[in-house]
Amino acid sequence: MNILDINRPHFLKVVALKFIIRSQIIFLCTILLLPIDTPALISEGRPGNPYFDQVLFLQKKIIENDKVVAVSLAFTDPRNNEDLCLNRMDVFDGLEKFRDIHEKQWVLVDFTLESLIIAEGFAGDADVTWVKACPDVDTCIEWGKQRALNPEEQERRANFPRPKALVKSNLEDITQRLELGRKLVKVARCRGCHNIEGSGPNYAPSLTWKRIKYDSGWVESYLMSPYRMRPAMDNLMMLNYTSPNAMPSLQQEEVKVVAEYLERVAIASAPSSDWRRELWDDYDCFDCHVKLYKSEPLVYQPTVLPENTKDMLEASSTLSLCLGCHTFGDMRTAEQIPAGTAHPFAPDLLLAFEKLNLNFISKFLEDPTHLVPLTKMPNLGLNDDQVLEIKGIAKKIKEEIEEGQIKPNHMYYNLEKKNLK
Ligand code: HEC
Ligand code: HEC
Ligand code: HEC
Repeated sequence: MNILDINRPHFLKVVALKFIIRSQIIFLCTILLLPIDTPALISEGRPGNPYFDQVLFLQKKIIENDKVVAVSLAFTDPRNNEDLCLNRMDVFDGLEKFRDIHEKQWVLVDFTLESLIIAEGFAGDADVTWVKACPDVDTCIEWGKQRALNPEEQERRANFPRPKALVKSNLEDITQRLELGRKLVKVARCRGCHNIEGSGPNYAPSLTWKRIKYDSGWVESYLMSPYRMRPAMDNLMMLNYTSPNAMPSLQQEEVKVVAEYLERVAIASAPSSDWRRELWDDYDCFDCHVKLYKSEPLVYQPTVLPENTKDMLEASSTLSLCLGCHTFGDMRTAEQIPAGTAHPFAPDLLLAFEKLNLNFISKFLEDPTHLVPLTKMPNLGLNDDQVLEIKGIAKKIKEEIEEGQIKPNHMYYNLEKKNLK
């Protein structure tokens, strides 16, 4: 199959057509896509981009134990069966701001966009910084206009922190590259082991997640030369798809597209229904590759940590909670973990902190299944201070790696060509 032979997405065309039919709802869709202050369509590679005075519909709010735990905002009122904008957004930070606002109401919202997926509309999640309930949609729009004219408000917006790297791009490019990534993942049969976009088995760690998960560039470099991260995982390896043994063997440019796709598909609900049709049940990778790996496992060698780093880690009572399940370089090795408590998917925390985005780490600890629906990590019920403490440790570890004090030991997976009978 020629991977460059991709169909142009119909998304823009369809949306444009519908725009003509339904002008009011369309207006609501376009204001998010075209923020007043930038001509770019979509925030690519820049989580944290702020949007102001967005008119949205509070579709769902869940309160548990007197805490607002989930809020979902839509771009259309589902009571009218207006499904032309499938756009929706989940709220991360700022949930409590919705405490006194009832469901099924229009709201005027300021938020920073955190992750986004585009396909037949888009879905993402955002940190809400300000919200006000409106009696109806027209009032919302009017209030938003007035607010934007307020000089103090204009100054506040001008000084609002924005991410440094603004990569402008257009919707069509992103959609095309996503589609190409999807196709490559299908051709490479990653679903022989992984769950991706909510479909696939769970032999290997789930690749279905929300938000930006990894530091930029990590996924691509990992796919180029995968290494062992999970000491308790002794039956299966990640495969090197750039090896000539691989069928298909991926070129670097293709690996880049796959990495980009995995990073962008930062949402649990699978957007493309075509995608559900991949017959991954029939893939036979798992059994054969388990056999293969067991015949020649890659010995796990923990990273050597400097003494002062170990002292810092040992001083943290919060971190000690983690070490019942996770290893941490040679400060906590697999031999020191009580038998039966380490799940095969639990990575060495040193290697996890190396690759993971700091915000992901803290949000994940607050509520693991929210970010990774299939995760095997339990919710530990940490309080805010404990989460911050771990984030601080992760930051310190990243700095020490950057400065060369810690040299993470990457044990690369490699298969010799052989016949398996
Ligand atoms: C034969 C099973 C198998 C197949 C097929 C497979 N993987 Fe993996 N993958 C694994 C295993 C096992 C790990 C965990 C390795 C470890 O932690 O040491 C892994 C880890 C990963 C990770 C790192 C995740 C993390 O945060 O630790 C990524 C990314 C990944 N795989 C992507 C892919 C992609 C993309 C494909 C298809 C091109 C693919 N995998 C196909 C078994 C597989
Ligand atoms: C009958 C056993 C068998 C099955 C089934 C199988 N493989 Fe393999 N695979 C191998 C062997 C053996 C190798 C080692 C290289 C060789 O001899 O070609 C290998 C190598 C690979 C490599 C290259 C890895 C490297 O480091 O060289 C990839 C990628 C791969 N297989 C992916 C898959 C995927 C994806 C599936 C499921 C769709 C699968 N394999 C099913 C036996 C199998
Ligand atoms: C009861 C066992 C257990 C405890 C205790 C535990 N974890 Fe985990 N953790 C896991 C498992 C299992 C996974 C693998 C999740 C998956 O991929 O399904 C995991 C995954 C993670 C990940 C994501 C890694 C990745 O590569 O995706 C991070 C980060 C993490 N844990 C941090 C911590 C921290 C920090 C603590 C202590 C505050 C902790 N964990 C305590 C079992 C545990």
